[in-house]
Amino acid sequence: LVHGAGTLVDTVLDEVAQAGVRHGGHLVHQEPGPAAEQPAVAGEADPGAEAFDLVLALRGTAPLPAQAASVEVEFRQRYAERADPLGDEGFVLARHGDTTVLLADAPNGLLYGLFHLVRLGESAFGADRPVERHRPAMRVRMLDHWDNVDVHHRMGQVERGYAGGSIFWQDGGPRRDPARVRAYGRLLAACGVNAVAVNNVNVHATEARLLTDRLGDVAAIAELLRPYGVRVFLSVSFAAPIVLGGLPSADPLDEQVRAWWAGTTAQVYGTIPDFGGYVVKADSEGQPGPFAYGRSHADGANVLAEALAPYDGVVHWRAFVYNHRQDWRDRSTDRARAAFDHFAPLDGQFRDNVILQVKHGPMDFQVREPVSPVIAAMPATRLAVEFQVTQEYTGQQRHVCYLGPLWREVLEFGPWGAGGPTVAAVAAGSTPGDAGPAAVAGAAGSASAAGGGLVAVSNVGDDPFWTGHPLAQANLYAFGRLAWAPELDPSAILDEWIDLTFVPSSTADPELLRRTLHEIMDDSWHTYEQYTAPLGVGFMVRPEHHYGPDVDGYEYTPWGTYHFADRDGIGVDRTRKSGTGYAGQYPQPWSDVYESPQRCPDELLLFFHHVPYGHLLHSGSTVIQHIYDTHFAGAERVAGMRQLWERLSTAGLVDPELDARVRERLDEQLRGAQEWRDQINTYFFRKSGVPDARGRRIH
Ligand code: GCU
Repeated sequence: LVHGAGTLVDTVLDEVAQAGVRHGGHLVHQEPGPAAEQPAVAGEADPGAEAFDLVLALRGTAPLPAQAASVEVEFRQRYAERADPLGDEGFVLARHGDTTVLLADAPNGLLYGLFHLVRLGESAFGADRPVERHRPAMRVRMLDHWDNVDVHHRMGQVERGYAGGSIFWQDGGPRRDPARVRAYGRLLAACGVNAVAVNNVNVHATEARLLTDRLGDVAAIAELLRPYGVRVFLSVSFAAPIVLGGLPSADPLDEQVRAWWAGTTAQVYGTIPDFGGYVVKADSEGQPGPFAYGRSHADGANVLAEALAPYDGVVHWRAFVYNHRQDWRDRSTDRARAAFDHFAPLDGQFRDNVILQVKHGPMDFQVREPVSPVIAAMPATRLAVEFQVTQEYTGQQRHVCYLGPLWREVLEFGPWGAGGPTVAAVAAGSTPGDAGPAAVAGAAGSASAAGGGLVAVSNVGDDPFWTGHPLAQANLYAFGRLAWAPELDPSAILDEWIDLTFVPSSTADPELLRRTLHEIMDDSWHTYEQYTAPLGVGFMVRPEHHYGPDVDGYEYTPWGTYHFADRDGIGVDRTRKSGTGYAGQYPQPWSDVYESPQRCPDELLLFFHHVPYGHLLHSGSTVIQHIYDTHFAGAERVAGMRQLWERLSTAGLVDPELDARVRERLDEQLRGAQEWRDQINTYFFRKSGVPDARGRRIH
């Protein structure tokens, strides 16, 4: 029984009808009367009502079906709540007798509740379940697509895309397969994602026009995603007033420029009333920005925010601003410092509807980085934390690298040490004032309007498996789940994903399937770290495409990504005492912890310090021996992953096409891991002259 009305309720009806058909059930839709006429309380329900296995009902409408009304009473008793305890997206779940009940305040909540039931599977229809309340920790759970409309870009249609062409754009226009885009909306809602930016943050000529004469293309996508509660955002060029408007300048303080943004934004909302807002990469890697006019990034962001404010739109302003034309000879400039140096002084100067979008680390989505100090530096600014689901630096969806554990580590990190808010709490809207348990409750409980949320660069394309490597789907799923509930255990998320993805179609031996996938995936991020760049030093990848090893590939380039290895040692001195001073951008205790080579965690040692190869780690090993050991071990573990998969193939537990795809990728991962091992070990053996203590073969 579905009790409610509206576009998303129609989606719920569709979903229930499809599931119902599979299970031979029948569906009843009840359109409720308005709340004001009859407040919903127990006892007012229709006593002669039919019994249902599942009741989904919008609260505040009357009369509530009998089973829903009794759950409503239990809910009010249990949570002793204010008038609007659930919000737009929350839901209540309970099971009594033979009926499972979902209640929500808004249709989006019913939809998320329904997908939660799908996750629970049979167990949602078994024993009684006392009433539970679910609400997202983050209000914004967004994916940025680095997709170009035009297919002829140097970087490919999807910049850093490893899953075929764009899911949104085809042959220079919107995809001519609306069913696929709609299915993508469904997938997003099932993961908990509620917003997407449909084009690349590097806005090229064709894509700039999505804001004006090609706005209809964006509206077409919004139309397909709307039934799944996914709002659409657009990456725009800061130079749009010049490029599209024909104005002589894009100076944010120029009246004509302000008027242009206001007028253009009014047209956008005239066409797409639930448009989310803009994403802007300004003064970064060649993109235009306010610096050209001697204005600050607050001036730049605010002019767009002002235009969006009347419609409740927001601007996601990216903090990824650094000098990409640095002189490698200059040891004092430090790319890691840049975001903090540019943005921390601007705290408090941004309008309320600016969300400053900060990459989780100070460099660029490396396999290991410290948490960005910007996250602790701007308590008076709405911050979103940006992750990279697309595996640019983590194996490009040819290598298995389950990123749930990395993100979990970032989210639970306390920038102010124990007792202060975590990164998750900051993204959900907490500030250092809300110390300790309150902040934790903030992260795990309801979304605050002040939080900028979590954003990630998408890994989806038009590939039949969505993500190139079928196992990379787990990263998309884990991102959505952690944005909803950052306290979830990545291994439990993997269980959900395995059951949702494989078990319905392959029930021969679900236990073997689950166990094997866990063995392959649980620790795959650490495995990837082992065979690539050591101890937080980062990069060492091939310039441009960033796949495969090239230890000195970036060493003498303008990109600011160096390791400084010589015959004596390796690492970047970022201390206050003798280095770039970056460690001083952290509050205590981290400022002191990172400053000290003795206290700095092993995995970040080379990010913060330049040390001799013989430096002793906390693990008891020297730096050079650690490099050898981890590289041998990492490649060996990949060989083990390859064999584990063989077990599933032999037992016929996975679909043959998927099996073939995964095998091909695992072969490539093994080749890649061996190449990494040999290049890194050989490089450091030649530099240091220190032999492997265990006498293994180094070339
Ligand atoms: C990385 C990536 C670029 C991207 C940039 C960004 O540097 O390699 O392709 O444009 O991040 O986040 O803007």
